[in-house]
Amino acid sequence: MNQWTREARYRPLSDVDPSVYQAMKEEVRTSPWRFSYHIQPPTGLLNDPNGFVYHDGLYHLFYQWFPLGPVHGLKYWYHMTSKDLVHWFDEGAALIPNDDPDSHGAYSGSGFIKDDQVHIMYTGNKRDADWNRHTSQIVGHLRSDGRIEKHLPPAIPNVPAGYTEHFRDPKVFQDASGTWYCIIGAQRIDLTGCTVIYQSQDAEHWTFLGELQTNNPTFGYMWECPDYFELDGKGVFLFSPQGIEPDGTNYQNIFQSGYFIGEPLALPDLTFTHESFQELDFGFDFYAPQTTEAADGRRILVGWMGLPDISYPSDIYNWAHALTLPRELTIEQGQLRQRPVRELTQLRKETLFDETILFEQDVTIAEAEIFELMMTDLKLSSDSFRFSIRQDATEETVFHYDAVSRQFTIDRSRSGAEVPAETFGTSRSTVLTKDLHTLRLFVDRSSFELFLNDGEAVASGRIFPKASSRGIAFSGEATAHLSIFDLS
Ligand code: FRU
Repeated sequence: MNQWTREARYRPLSDVDPSVYQAMKEEVRTSPWRFSYHIQPPTGLLNDPNGFVYHDGLYHLFYQWFPLGPVHGLKYWYHMTSKDLVHWFDEGAALIPNDDPDSHGAYSGSGFIKDDQVHIMYTGNKRDADWNRHTSQIVGHLRSDGRIEKHLPPAIPNVPAGYTEHFRDPKVFQDASGTWYCIIGAQRIDLTGCTVIYQSQDAEHWTFLGELQTNNPTFGYMWECPDYFELDGKGVFLFSPQGIEPDGTNYQNIFQSGYFIGEPLALPDLTFTHESFQELDFGFDFYAPQTTEAADGRRILVGWMGLPDISYPSDIYNWAHALTLPRELTIEQGQLRQRPVRELTQLRKETLFDETILFEQDVTIAEAEIFELMMTDLKLSSDSFRFSIRQDATEETVFHYDAVSRQFTIDRSRSGAEVPAETFGTSRSTVLTKDLHTLRLFVDRSSFELFLNDGEAVASGRIFPKASSRGIAFSGEATAHLSIFDLS
């Protein structure tokens, strides 16, 4: 494995001999655990979704990308497009960190449509000779040749007084009157996290308004990747706070991402009246989500199926991480729900199982590696119910429901090649508000995404089983309608 010196991490792709890069691409392409239907990097490391926007029949989705290995280094934006949120076309690197303000990375940001063109706003990350960080916020637009043209100098060249250089991830939106706003993740000089808001009439010249006034003025040491939108009459503020301690089954990962639901903001008034923080995903691998509005008005969320500071067994093949499947968001009875986007039924190939079934004893129902499993009308007649996937004699990923406590638990302690222990244990749980009645599970070569009770709770995780571990087995007493679709 490479020694990831600072020099190696900040080496631009243009310095690498094209034949060496081609060989790396080939090594990655043929390595184990590559995804079948998720967005993954061609080489190197993927992190946050960026610039997610719909324009003129196409969804544009970019991601943070370090091309040269499974580590965080000089970040580019890699560009994907799709007509249907299911099939993605690889557009290549679109934003290159080769200017002074982004010399050490084109960090996260968002997309918006202005003058009938895809625009973006992102954070330029720069380090000086003493490795002090300097951040600025840069606007750009997507040219017809697929590259982002930067509008330099940066639109917001400096961090305002009162905040550290951990000041990044602008999310731009427009209100009904056409005024532009952008919210930025920030750290105060007392090392607490918050979000600040800017206003603009043209999305190029920005005026600092101040901090979003939440009920949680001290919650972690940095808020990354803020997002704000209105949905079903509510204001929703998403963010990824760092520095939250584990609490019962909550906050089990190194960093969290979640939301406040409240009254719609009356900007430029910065007061946000909201309910308590809720996590978006109770799984192992989820961070830095971003949303956009679909052509038909749906609010669509995509996250990074990974987290900072973790390593995986696939790292030795020089690539890391993927994006989650897109989810559609709604608010129902005041609660946020997340369902896989309806377009994903297009992935279904062969139907492996489709019957109402009475589970009475341990039973292996099917064999599949890459599949969707759906249970509806689930009714338990025992206290607990369990099923496992990607199973063979020595491996399995286990999903367990305790009907007495309504606790749902995922155990990946025997899921295959081990994810190192720095990922905070091998099981994750949530307590449902209603009895478990529906369940939908998407499994790719090295991941699962689980949706419980029609989007009440969601969990994402990476697993690294052998390709031959394919058993899908159930135990417990219950009836349900069970469908299994091959997605390979
Ligand atoms: C979140 C994050 C962002 C930053 C980007 C850099 O994962 O740390 O705050 O812009 O990643 O890649």
